[in-house]
Amino acid sequence: MNTDPSAHFGPASQSIRQYVEILSSRGIEWGLLGPREGDRLWDRHILNSVAVASLIPEGATVVDVGSGAGLPGLPLALFRPDVMMTLLESLLRRSEFLQLAVDELGLQDRVRVVRARAEEHRECYQVVTARAVAPLERLVGWCEPLMERGGALLALKGSSAADELAASADALSVRGLTGVVHELAVPGTDEVTWAVEIRRRRDRHPLS
Ligand SMILES: C[S@@+](CC[C@H](N)C(=O)[O-])C[C@H]1O[C@@H](n2cnc3c(N)ncnc32)[C@H](O)[C@@H]1O
Repeated sequence: MNTDPSAHFGPASQSIRQYVEILSSRGIEWGLLGPREGDRLWDRHILNSVAVASLIPEGATVVDVGSGAGLPGLPLALFRPDVMMTLLESLLRRSEFLQLAVDELGLQDRVRVVRARAEEHRECYQVVTARAVAPLERLVGWCEPLMERGGALLALKGSSAADELAASADALSVRGLTGVVHELAVPGTDEVTWAVEIRRRRDRHPLS
């Protein structure tokens, strides 16, 4: 890995280091991350989160469903200052942690925290992201209503992506959805990760 992974964040390099500091201190103290995650925050969480950035259109509205401690939503918001980010999280303590991080990072003008279950949220976005929240089939049921016309769900799935997509084929078809798997380089590492991109069949699939 690059000796200074924060360099990938350009003008936000100081802010991403501050977020890593919040995660490795209060994130662990509050029980949002396991104690062993402290040593692998950069490659496993921060750089992995921004691998999907190339699939997000310029100036998009984005909702990060089940954001937890802010992953991938907060690294993406710092990496891509053009996006308007909503961090959607159902648990009170986690949403309080997210608001604390947004306030300390001074991101209130373009990052908002909403405490709600995805199934109950009633707004639409150009892009829905989700990492480690639910199996693809269930995630699609929660997230399809959040996708605006022409919008997409980007499910960060790791090496299970193709298998999950295949297993969800019938559920997608019934809903008039299609999916493709993207293999994505993790910046600053030799690693790759995977995202499943879900769109409505009637919308053009720009990346397929
Ligand atoms: C395993 S954590 C993953 C957190 C983060 N996305 C990550 O990659 O580290 C799953 C998160 O999704 C939240 N969650 C689960 N079901 C949800 C739902 N239906 N709506 C909103 N958030 C949900 C949980 O509270 C938890 O914070």
